[in-house]
Amino acid sequence: MAGDHSEFEKQIREVLGTIQDPETGRPLRKQIRQVEVSDQQADVSVGLTSHCWPLRDEFQSEVETALQGKFGTDKPINVAVELQERPAQAVGQVGITAKSIIAVAAGKGGVGKSSVATSLAQALKKAGCKTGLLDADVYGPSIPHLTGARGQVSKVDNKIQPMVVDGIPVMSIGFMVPPGEAVIWRGPMLHSAITTFLRDTAWGDLDYLIIDMPPGTGDVALSLSQMLPLTGAVMVCTPQEVALIDAIKAVGMFRKVKIPVLGLIENMSSFVCPDNGKEYDIFGKGGAEQYAKQDQIDFLGSIPISIDLRKRGDAGEMLKNFDDPNVAPTLETIATNLCRTLADRVKANPIQAQLPVLK
Ligand SMILES: Nc1ncnc2c1ncn2[C@@H]1O[C@H](COP(=O)(O)OP(=O)(O)O)[C@@H](O)[C@H]1O
Ligand SMILES: [Mg+2]
Repeated sequence: MAGDHSEFEKQIREVLGTIQDPETGRPLRKQIRQVEVSDQQADVSVGLTSHCWPLRDEFQSEVETALQGKFGTDKPINVAVELQERPAQAVGQVGITAKSIIAVAAGKGGVGKSSVATSLAQALKKAGCKTGLLDADVYGPSIPHLTGARGQVSKVDNKIQPMVVDGIPVMSIGFMVPPGEAVIWRGPMLHSAITTFLRDTAWGDLDYLIIDMPPGTGDVALSLSQMLPLTGAVMVCTPQEVALIDAIKAVGMFRKVKIPVLGLIENMSSFVCPDNGKEYDIFGKGGAEQYAKQDQIDFLGSIPISIDLRKRGDAGEMLKNFDDPNVAPTLETIATNLCRTLADRVKANPIQAQLPVLK
């Protein structure tokens, strides 16, 4: 009966209207794309932005669970999640259009920040997000090396064109000074380099800008935080106690300059010996996760020590990590966990500002 159908449709829409959009935390409205009820079934289609695309499966389950919770399973309700874009807005005064700007940082050098930043950018890109990668380590840029991108950037219409590697726009001081040329950075120069990266680079529309930070925090974090509101920082540390102590210090510094610490990643966690398959905890185990829990920081995942990962870094072939069953799942999980952390934060504190209309 048509009357019953339209009542059921209305009820379905009501349930959908209680679900929060993971990008904004607001209840679904324009993202309810279709609700069609027939005698046999109901078909529901809801939109999700590419920013949250890594959460697609869990978003679909959330919608299904909410509908089943209300209506039971007598009549099948099919849920489809479709890509629906909401354009990114300019962030701060520098004109960059990105939805989330994430700094990857650590208390000390050599813990794998650059490798993690590159992997995170690649994992998000692979999962369907528009992602850019900025090498803010002006003292020791390693993103050109890790991504295999060589050469110098050029300008078009007064904007620097970033290198594009595997569909990811990448920018580094290494693309601006000839290789091997030493740059001695002083405060104002540092600030102007960061300005160039953010204001003068044609990044395009981004869901995520991943920033590989120099070791420690200090000047660059401060410059960045003065120029644009960072969504937050992701801290990398190894299981060693000294690395953890430095990471805790860095967390304190980030919080002091009001950059939220979103999550902690443990790198070089354990080593699985390729000869005998045995696992060795070379730098210890579990300390980072325990600390994260204590300090209410999300633990995003741990990456094992992998000889292949190191080799791919040296060869500029980091993307091949995603074909490697020993590291791919953890890299993908870390990216999904970061998206979920961001979603949880906006759900707890929905975005109030006016936003561009969904397409
Ligand atoms: N999980 C890992 N397993 C093996 N080697 C790694 C791992 N993570 C990073 N490395 C290697 O450690 C070195 C330092 O990593 P890098 O990402 O440059 O650290 P940072 O940016 O913190 O200085 C690089 O040679 C890199 O290939
Ligand atoms: Mg580095």
